[in-house]
Amino acid sequence: MTVSTIILAAGKGTRMKSPTSKILHKIAGKYLLAFSVELSKDIKSQETIVVVGKENELVTRKAFSDHKIKFCVQNNQLGTGDAVKIALKKLKIKTNYTLVLYGDTPFITKTTIKRMISRAEKGFELVFLGFKSKVKNSYGKLKLGPKKTLIDIIEKNEPGYTSSGCLSNSGILLVQSNISTNLIEKIRNDNSKNEFYLTNIVKIATEHGYSSTYVQCEEDECLGVNSQIDLSLAERKFQDDFRKKLLASGVSMPSPETCFFSYDTIIKNGCVVEPNVFFGTGVKIQSSSVIKSYSYIEGTHIGKNCQIGPFARLRPGTKLLESVKVGNFVEIKNATLANRTKANHLSYIGDAKVGANTNIGAGTIFCNYDGNRKHYTVVGENVFVGSNTSLIAPLKIGDASIVAAGSAINIDVPSESLAIARPTQQNKIGLGKKIMLKLQKVADKIKQ
Ligand code: UD1
Ligand code: MG
Repeated sequence: MTVSTIILAAGKGTRMKSPTSKILHKIAGKYLLAFSVELSKDIKSQETIVVVGKENELVTRKAFSDHKIKFCVQNNQLGTGDAVKIALKKLKIKTNYTLVLYGDTPFITKTTIKRMISRAEKGFELVFLGFKSKVKNSYGKLKLGPKKTLIDIIEKNEPGYTSSGCLSNSGILLVQSNISTNLIEKIRNDNSKNEFYLTNIVKIATEHGYSSTYVQCEEDECLGVNSQIDLSLAERKFQDDFRKKLLASGVSMPSPETCFFSYDTIIKNGCVVEPNVFFGTGVKIQSSSVIKSYSYIEGTHIGKNCQIGPFARLRPGTKLLESVKVGNFVEIKNATLANRTKANHLSYIGDAKVGANTNIGAGTIFCNYDGNRKHYTVVGENVFVGSNTSLIAPLKIGDASIVAAGSAINIDVPSESLAIARPTQQNKIGLGKKIMLKLQKVADKIKQ
């Protein structure tokens, strides 16, 4: 069966009370709208069209410019029926069924949509997705007939509405494409909100001899985001599910609830993640590495057997090969550290490549920025960089060389050399004692 997808996202989202469009809020680092867009891809939708409002059109187009989706604008939010009608006119490819998703309902699964498709294949022109709610709510209610047929969906404040006992409507719909336009055009707005309710399609279909049915899923799959509280609940659900998956795959986390993950975080088995670690987007960690508490990691690839933190900050473009050690208060950005290299304390490594078995001493700063442009540093293998050193880029330090502690290095260092760049120390014999005595005399005078 071939499917096209319409994603409804024209709502103003006023309850979010935010200048950011609702569907561009994020869960685990991913746009809310991206969840439905990806679902449409997962079910191999032939064409996907997102209905946006004129307020969020430009920002949404920009945020999704690398996705293969189309947009159409609903200028006035006249209801879900009106939104679908506008989108149907823009669909170009002929498919068997049209799927309607919401841009603010992120957790609908591919399995559920597949179940809806197999119900449709049994000869139903319409399949809605319903769920049983634990609490009283104001969703549309499914009115069922014999043999799992659906005869109507009743919206709140409309005649015959009862909030208890019935299945609630998730809003997700699968409708046979070749009859959809015809049925949608018959929807009227003679209801309490003067809106074109998409849900009226059920009754209209029945009147025209078409049959509707439903598929039931869990309530939390239909969780919709309307407010910041909803968004935080959705985030919590995502994080809980994600942590469970990681634990099941063999990652050790003594306090999983304190760690935050992004939708694309990859952590291989045998890794240990200590409490209070943040993973931004683009993190991949190979097996048996340990991430110690209070580390903040984004856009970073970490090889096997590495040890990170506590208090490490790994920024985008960081690549650590195997058995690398990065200790407390070390910040790394756009830099590669090869096997067994160590940067254990208080350093900044930016725009650099560091070879294997190299030691970056405490307080080493890679001075990569001249106030205008960024410059690159290459440090070879088996190098020892002493503590409190500034490496002023652009710079090359050859293999097996030593940089003396406290140096400010701005000239390339050949292999196997010792570079020392600090003022020469002078020891003035006896002068220390003299100064001490003088100071003591001054102090005694003040006391008198
Ligand atoms: C809708 C359903 C209701 C269901 C509930 C589930 C209708 C009439 N009712 O109600 O049965 O229980 O969802 O959450 O469909 N949208 C547009 N253009 C519009 C109006 C809405 O694009 O003119 C979009 C919104 O951005 C949102 C979705 O459609 O993503 C649902 O709209 P919303 O106003 O939240 O519908 P509900 O009243 O909640
Ligand atoms: Mg709603």
